[in-house]
Amino acid sequence: MKLPSKGSSVEEVLGVMKQRKADDANWRGAKTFSLIYPAGEEVDHALHEFNNLYLYENALNPFRFPSLHTMEKEVVAMTTDLLHGGEDATGAMTSGGTESILMAVKTARDRARAERGVTEPQLLAPVSAHPAFAKAASYLDLEHVQIPLADDLRADVDAAEKLITDQTAIMIGSAPNYPHGMVDPIPELAGLAAERGIHFHTDACVGGFLLPFLEKLGHDIPPFDFRVPGVTTISADVHKYGYCTKGASVIAHRSKATADYQLFLYDKWPGGIYGSLAMAGARPAAPIAAAWGIMNFLGEEGYCRLAGRALAAAQKLRAGIEAIPGLRIWGDPVASLIAFGSDTLDIMAIGDVMDDHGWHLDRQDGPAALHMMVSPEHERIADEFLANLRDAVANHGASRGVEARYS
Ligand SMILES: Cc1ncc(COP(=O)(O)O)c(C=O)c1O
Repeated sequence: MKLPSKGSSVEEVLGVMKQRKADDANWRGAKTFSLIYPAGEEVDHALHEFNNLYLYENALNPFRFPSLHTMEKEVVAMTTDLLHGGEDATGAMTSGGTESILMAVKTARDRARAERGVTEPQLLAPVSAHPAFAKAASYLDLEHVQIPLADDLRADVDAAEKLITDQTAIMIGSAPNYPHGMVDPIPELAGLAAERGIHFHTDACVGGFLLPFLEKLGHDIPPFDFRVPGVTTISADVHKYGYCTKGASVIAHRSKATADYQLFLYDKWPGGIYGSLAMAGARPAAPIAAAWGIMNFLGEEGYCRLAGRALAAAQKLRAGIEAIPGLRIWGDPVASLIAFGSDTLDIMAIGDVMDDHGWHLDRQDGPAALHMMVSPEHERIADEFLANLRDAVANHGASRGVEARYS
């Protein structure tokens, strides 16, 4: 396609966009189970307002737009507080979980070089850790070593201990992991790391804005945050269960001493000193404004309400799935992520029928599963979903061979 020689009216351009958008996944109808976290019309409306106010500004230079600088600092402070960081806790906002993870790995690599003389850094992550860790290892030149999972689908601590070397720069645990919604044994893993001066990162991209509120509601949540000795950094995404529009995550540090390793500083440029805490140069302002806006709009009360609704929806779906003969949940997920499969039925063929009913379930292959990241709005569709699932189990044909593919 070439750039059109002449422009079109806003209405014409919007017309084409809307036509194309008609084929996109119907997330407003709560038929998708990943990528977007529907929380209802009030949240939608608020996010439009917050984003609109900051569409043009650039968060690269905090001195030009001090309001952005203040909001970013406050988002980080509110997040470290939720994660039980102490007085010395600090951090920065990034564009998403992957960038927060990249910054944690860069911090750990540079720290290991400077403090322990590590020359061939290794990254030790459970098999179930998000691919962002593999990406970080690849970009930042660390060897990626995988920790196998125990039978309960959490990282195997004994196996992890055997894999540690004097070149291990960073160890990782997820709270929860994406594939099975399990929280790794963070105290045990972080303990192994702390004994050896190794950086430990909790990936709470999914759980950072969910688990604290479920705990406040009285649920039993496995330890994962800065209350666990040895946890050095935590990633927590405001654009997941923080219900912000995309482009907002926090990389949180237990102490300012490690945060210094995150900073990139360059002073040999005619343009002047260039300092940056993230991969991006120019940074959109809207995600910072939207993150600050939604956190203040919802407050602890709003987040508790939404976390409670997401969990209630997940529990209803889980109970309904477990009641269907032949289906089972993999592992024992703590919050609202569910992977279900079967020992006897072809789960991918069942997935095909669910596709035909208009649901967007991710497919997984270790073990074979259909995957759901449940949001508050899924309350509305739980009965319809379960009715369709019962139909799919009773009336599926052979699998069409659709692959497990996330992106
Ligand atoms: C556990 C976990 N960590 C990290 C990420 C990466 O986040 P992002 O897609 O925002 O880069 C995800 C994404 O789903 C995730 O589920």
